Amino acid sequence: MNLRVRPCQALRGAVTVPADKSISHRALLLGGIAEGVSTVRNWLPAADCQATLTAVRAMGVSVEQSSPTELHIHGVGLRGLKAPAIPIDCQRSGTTMRLLAGILAGQAFTITLDGDTGLRRRPMERVAIPLREMGAVVETRNGCPPLVVKGGNLHGIDYRLPVASAQVKSAILLAALYAEGPSTVRQPGPARDHTERMLIAQGAGIELREDTITLTPGSQPLKPCSLTVPADFSSAAFPLVAALLAPNSDVVLEGVGINPTRTGLIDVLGEMGAELRWLNQAEQAGEPTADLLIRSPATPHAPRTPWPGDGAAHDKGLRGTQVGGQTVVRMIDEFPALAVAATQAQGQTLVRDARELRLKETDRIGAVVAELRRLGASVAERDDGFSVDGPTRLRGARVHSHGDHRLGMALVVAGLIAEGETVVEGAEVIADSFPGFVGLMRTLGAELDEE
Ligand code: S3P
Repeated sequence: MNLRVRPCQALRGAVTVPADKSISHRALLLGGIAEGVSTVRNWLPAADCQATLTAVRAMGVSVEQSSPTELHIHGVGLRGLKAPAIPIDCQRSGTTMRLLAGILAGQAFTITLDGDTGLRRRPMERVAIPLREMGAVVETRNGCPPLVVKGGNLHGIDYRLPVASAQVKSAILLAALYAEGPSTVRQPGPARDHTERMLIAQGAGIELREDTITLTPGSQPLKPCSLTVPADFSSAAFPLVAALLAPNSDVVLEGVGINPTRTGLIDVLGEMGAELRWLNQAEQAGEPTADLLIRSPATPHAPRTPWPGDGAAHDKGLRGTQVGGQTVVRMIDEFPALAVAATQAQGQTLVRDARELRLKETDRIGAVVAELRRLGASVAERDDGFSVDGPTRLRGARVHSHGDHRLGMALVVAGLIAEGETVVEGAEVIADSFPGFVGLMRTLGAELDEE
């Protein structure tokens, strides 16, 4: 499916983006191995999470769906999963494959995890190595899927993550539930901590110390989890950046998860001169949430939309910045959106220490640079990131998602501020994380239609 995008004048309104993808995966997996029924409201019915739903069902977990977003998961307990008759298809979802591998390392059966061609290119030794060290047999094909996991009698390990990956950390913590003795994971940076939060709520013995997590398996089963999933910050990032860039915009994104391990983009946009406000801070499912209020800064063509009670518009729009180190970990999924914002900032934006981006749904460094160049942006590739020189007036063109939902959405946002018409090819992939993206953007005033 191709999306035709026309430039927009202003984005306005209050909307709720879909539920958090990371939490939706975890609720299914952790609910599946709990004892008792977990009720999950505002679950994300996107393609990636559907892959996890199909996988847990294939292993004997009964999941009733009272609506597309409400699940009742009949947990079978830590050792109640059954070997499925055929390999599990994780489709394009790396989170499904890597987190499942952790649970499967503790099962008394052998299972194959496979996926589509995109997932088959992604590195799996990063989970295989620690799971082998714990006692499981894990085979990869040249380091990639398919993954064959033969669960074993596991023992605890003390493991330093070579990269700050929440998926690898989670796989080890899930396997640690089955191990003899405690397991410790040491992370080089603040990778998202949803697994730890959920496991603590389910009664698991977890101790957190700075960047070290220790799980001591107990004799008690995991308690079921009942939660309402907050809106996904990583999905909110696209209307957020769109509202910053489209002149005269005024947008509220409601009930967004603002877990500090996820909000690096807010800090970076703040350094770039954007003013974003958080209203109605609350807590939901053990996660902090807020309504995000975004108003576009001044542009050469339009004055800034004033905030309530403030005087004359005196800001100068966005300016370039440098991003590196631990901030990269806290915004690992937001670089396609940031790159678009950077095309409108004065001066250079430089992203470093982000080599991990090459291992996402696509090589996000190469693909972002190639596609933004088609729109006329001044972007340069670096081994560990990219640089953008701005501001540039983008020109509409035909661009491609590279099979990557976040690149697809970033290109739609770029199309909204480009001159003329932009066509985003391969836009069906947006449904991997953000069902209803087109409708939501239209509600805000964007002009988008399917070609
Ligand atoms: C995720 C972790 C991140 C992120 C992905 C979701 C998760 O991957 O990019 O979209 O739910 O744990 P890494 O752990 O590989 O950094």
